[in-house]
Amino acid sequence: MNKEFDVIVVGELNVDLILNELERFPEIGKEVLAQQMTLTLGSSSAIFASNISSLGTRVAFIGKIGKDKFGEVVLESLQKNQVDISMIKRDDKLGTGATIVLNVEEDRANTTYPGAMDFLTINDISEEDLSKAKHLHFSSYFLQPGMQKDLGKLFRTAQDLGLTTSFDMQWDPGEKWDLDIEDILPYVNVFLPNDKELIYLSGKNDLNEAINYIKKYTDILAIKRGNQGSTVCSKDEIMNLPAFLNTDVVDAIGAGDSFNAGFIYKFIMGNSIQECQEFGNLTGAMSTTAAGGTTAFQNYENFKKKAQDVFGYSV
Ligand SMILES: Nc1ncnc2c1ncn2[C@@H]1O[C@H](COP(=O)(O)OP(=O)(O)O)[C@@H](O)[C@H]1O
Ligand SMILES: [Mg+2]
Repeated sequence: MNKEFDVIVVGELNVDLILNELERFPEIGKEVLAQQMTLTLGSSSAIFASNISSLGTRVAFIGKIGKDKFGEVVLESLQKNQVDISMIKRDDKLGTGATIVLNVEEDRANTTYPGAMDFLTINDISEEDLSKAKHLHFSSYFLQPGMQKDLGKLFRTAQDLGLTTSFDMQWDPGEKWDLDIEDILPYVNVFLPNDKELIYLSGKNDLNEAINYIKKYTDILAIKRGNQGSTVCSKDEIMNLPAFLNTDVVDAIGAGDSFNAGFIYKFIMGNSIQECQEFGNLTGAMSTTAAGGTTAFQNYENFKKKAQDVFGYSV
């Protein structure tokens, strides 16, 4: 069937205001200077959307922002990465979310103002829009309270409309891990937590117990394990694939979202689960070769060259 988009991403949107080279963290009543500052597109969902788009996938985004300057930064950045922004909702009564990142040597302290991302609800997502894509990806469950009670319904609606689905719940800043597994996961084709998140969600003591408990709820359970690579479980088969060795890690920002992008890129083209996993490991590792979550994906020719030269993988 001819669809306008391969993937619709539903997720949170915010900017990151990153202050670098602070001499120390600020103390109450005092002031410190930062030597360097960057304003960029933040949000896991946006990193996923940008990176899967850079691989050649046609992507549209559904999220909520304010009618403000930060909102314009979000839209411009997504557009620059060829992500369709026509379904993004702008509310003039709300402010676009922002994370202020203070970097002091290896340490960081973040403060997030969620703003409009608290207010995306299922009423912002029409069946007509969902029908335009082959696949739905939802990310960052705990950052979107307006979506939580209806996420199962969203996945069911998408599957009824013929879409496949994927879900990265991401970290719970409240560390309560309150998610209705039975209402949501049976309607997820690919569930993409990292190992710690999966253990906390399951309430079990270790990864094996967590896998055994969760695997029955979802078709493909793809678990990200940092520099250990990934473990993918489907139909009682478990496959561990080691990470691609990167001896020169710049940072791990967005590695998980980049893994998702690589995995889902292959998945929607009908590749074997092992190929999806291997490519996810590649894109995750690729993300660690450059600063931030999207830099390593800006130029597809460079991506292919690096895949070959650094990781011995022919794209
Ligand atoms: N240091 C690293 N070297 C090589 N690959 C890595 C490294 N860190 C992460 N990856 C790859 O990226 C994937 C996702 O990273 P991970 O940190 O586990 O995700 P998350 O950001 O969700 O915690 C991993 O499964 C792995 O394949
Ligand atoms: Mg993650």
